[in-house]
Amino acid sequence: MNNQSKVKNQIRLIVFFILFSFTNKTISQEPVKVFILAGQSNMQGHGEIEKGEKGNLKWVVKNKDSYKHLVNDDGTWKKRNDVNIYATDKFNVVKTGKLTVGYGAFPTTIGPELEFGNIIGDHFKNKVLLIKTTWGGKSLAVDFCPPSAVSTSGYHEIPAKAKDTGYYYVQMLSTIYKVLDSLHKHVPDYKGEGYEIAGFGWHQGWNDRVNKKANAAYQSNLIHLIKDVRRDLSSPNLPFVIASTGMKGWNDKDPRALSLMNAQLAVANHTEFNGNVAAIDTRDFWRDIENSPSKQVYHWNRNAESYLLVGRAIAKNMLSIIELNTSKNIHQKIRPVPAYNSDYLTPTPPMGWNSWNAFEKDIDEKKIKEIADVMVSSGMRDAGYKYLVLDDAWMASERNKKGELVADSIKFPNGMKAVGDYIHSKGLKYGIYQCRGYLTCQKLPGSFEHEQIDMNSFAKWGVDYIKLDACYAAKNNRLSSEDFAIYHEAILNTNRPMVLSISDFGNGAWAWGGKNYGELWRTSGDIYPRIGSVYHCAETSGGNGTIHPAFNGLWQFAGPDSWNDPDMLQVGNLNTTDEDKVHFSLWSILAAPLMAGNDLRSMSKDVKDILLAPEVIAINQDPRGHQGYRVFNKDSIEIYNKPLSDGTTAVLILNKGQNKTDIIVKWNQIGLKGPQMVRDLWLQKDLGIYHGAFTGKNLGKHEHLLLKIGTKGQQLVEGPLPIPEENYTVTKSGTTYLSDLYYMLKNGGAPKKDKTYNGKTIKIKGKKYKKGLGVKSNSQLMYKLDGKANRFKAVVSLDKDAPKNTAGQFKVMVEDKFGGRVIYDSGKIKKGASKIEIDIDVKGLDFILLDFSGKKVFGNWADARVIKNNE
Ligand code: GAL
Repeated sequence: MNNQSKVKNQIRLIVFFILFSFTNKTISQEPVKVFILAGQSNMQGHGEIEKGEKGNLKWVVKNKDSYKHLVNDDGTWKKRNDVNIYATDKFNVVKTGKLTVGYGAFPTTIGPELEFGNIIGDHFKNKVLLIKTTWGGKSLAVDFCPPSAVSTSGYHEIPAKAKDTGYYYVQMLSTIYKVLDSLHKHVPDYKGEGYEIAGFGWHQGWNDRVNKKANAAYQSNLIHLIKDVRRDLSSPNLPFVIASTGMKGWNDKDPRALSLMNAQLAVANHTEFNGNVAAIDTRDFWRDIENSPSKQVYHWNRNAESYLLVGRAIAKNMLSIIELNTSKNIHQKIRPVPAYNSDYLTPTPPMGWNSWNAFEKDIDEKKIKEIADVMVSSGMRDAGYKYLVLDDAWMASERNKKGELVADSIKFPNGMKAVGDYIHSKGLKYGIYQCRGYLTCQKLPGSFEHEQIDMNSFAKWGVDYIKLDACYAAKNNRLSSEDFAIYHEAILNTNRPMVLSISDFGNGAWAWGGKNYGELWRTSGDIYPRIGSVYHCAETSGGNGTIHPAFNGLWQFAGPDSWNDPDMLQVGNLNTTDEDKVHFSLWSILAAPLMAGNDLRSMSKDVKDILLAPEVIAINQDPRGHQGYRVFNKDSIEIYNKPLSDGTTAVLILNKGQNKTDIIVKWNQIGLKGPQMVRDLWLQKDLGIYHGAFTGKNLGKHEHLLLKIGTKGQQLVEGPLPIPEENYTVTKSGTTYLSDLYYMLKNGGAPKKDKTYNGKTIKIKGKKYKKGLGVKSNSQLMYKLDGKANRFKAVVSLDKDAPKNTAGQFKVMVEDKFGGRVIYDSGKIKKGASKIEIDIDVKGLDFILLDFSGKKVFGNWADARVIKNNE
């Protein structure tokens, strides 16, 4: 998303909120009721609408009084405005819209959804969404095999090996989550009411009767299915209605048909289900062949009335369970739709887990699935950790014949789409690693010159998040901005929204405009599981006196879809709980992406409590998106402030030193006045009202407090003023001296402004220069021109203080090491050589980099300046 469209989005959001607050009163705030209708061909629906003489829907409506509600006065089929449906047909084609006839296996048929939706729609004043996930010809023993059951088949479909979750179980859950994630698309008049997964209906055909083993395991499989679906949808009491298979009605005497139906009916009485699973004996709904459109036997002879009756029975039983639950005070959770009405992919810093810090190259399908399971069972997913990102070394060492990336077949035998499907079935999002060089950092195939083909593969596999690394990218001979523009375009071409996480060792994407291409960018090199490394990485985003001295941290470049990323979390990998905690607090206050990097399968309770600390996460995820900034930094004591969206502010006080100490935070440091409530966010406890200041007492090495100070609802606490553009980039016509602009230090010591490196007046061949930069080898300084300057001019020479017989070299380069283009090279020059005047074209360049090299030598870029408008 470019800046312009970001601004537009902001305006749209504001307009939306204004409109919303006016119309608020008339909009029902009741959550959307979501019902899942799942199973096989019989749930898909083969009830004929017109075909056949008798028993089709037209015939049924004409001959039976109780179905008149399906037609309008003029005889056309009714469309329900309050009931929306998402369904796939027999050919897996998605159909979505307002409920009417034609949502069966074919456009010419109906399934149970029609009457189910009518009854449910009449009952609730809420908007309703039906999600129909059905695949014909499948069994519970294999295809839908629930994760906690043991599949006994040797079936060849992925991933249906013994003990494996059935492929269609995974598809079912991932489809449900896909639809819920874009709820506003499927409920077009959705107004942000949130939703509630209100019930689950199941109706299937005869596949589990065909095979003896499958038949024997059926009852247990169905119990597992109900439990697993409830767990995977985080709905422990979700009402379930099982409509029995029906077969040939009461005529069916086949022992396996009977055992299948008996098993279905028995499940309702399973004690663990507490009476909120119902089973319906559907045999009464059987209509004989003479009165039906077809002689098919299975598929209810394609009789529309049978499907209406199945739908009606599921609905009525569902409502009874819901009523019973309501009287027992059991309610389903109301959930917000993430990022509703926001065009931002990451309105708040992304949260998730990445494989690198925990496993490096050692990843495989089993591990990743286990991690996905733990992300759900530990509560991490529900706390906001939604991206599960596979880092380097998932791919095979060779592309396939078509030039596409393929999975390492030993680690991921079922391919990368199966991994993504599994991740999606857990309500998580799928992230993957690639590199913009020709190799990844682990020397596997990188994406250079395969940009579109790789982004297409990712889109095909259902990827939601791409971490794009930079190893070997220096060989691309492209500027970072050129490289990322290519990926940005390639991602847009796939039509799949995918977050682009720029991983470039902290090469300055915040400065070169990474936000035009990606949603987050690294500000640091790699993080290691040591507190020193954690502090260093935090500084690259929170305030680094060397790299970008003029900025008090990079907070002014952060916001929705623009996050500074000091690298992934090492929480759980550090030496002590205090270190883990301070790490998490720093990332929280810095609005840094929270990508856990520990082995979640074996984390201790302490570590889990840190990663799940609700009030600490809330600071990180505050919708205002204001990155915290440092207000005090002296004698190893640091104080950070992060103004929040509710009128309060988050404050981190930290002792990085060895000795115990008190730390005082004064209200004038954090934009507050008067008496204010102070809350400890780790303890989740109010500490009391304080006047003018608060003292954290006796804080030892690496100890800190994370506080929330202020009163909810008071005027928003203002952040600091951003550094004006004219201080760090070219804005005015005519001459801009580089010594008047802030720089980004890429290498070496900081330059002296308007003096030699040793603090003397710059003098070249007798002439004194008031302006210029004094540097010591080897130094690299980057200046942001923003495409606004036409020429760069300077007079260069080695400084008088340079030792005798030394040589130095001045180069002007474009952007940074990834661009690597030299646009001026003085060659080696010796001390005392005559001065060199540089006057070069820099039109359109975003950056220039002044490079001075040599052995312990001093140099001067006298009068270094850029000129706008060719003056
Ligand atoms: C590094 C990157 C790490 C990890 C690694 C994989 O360059 O910064 O986060 O992705 O490559 O090889």
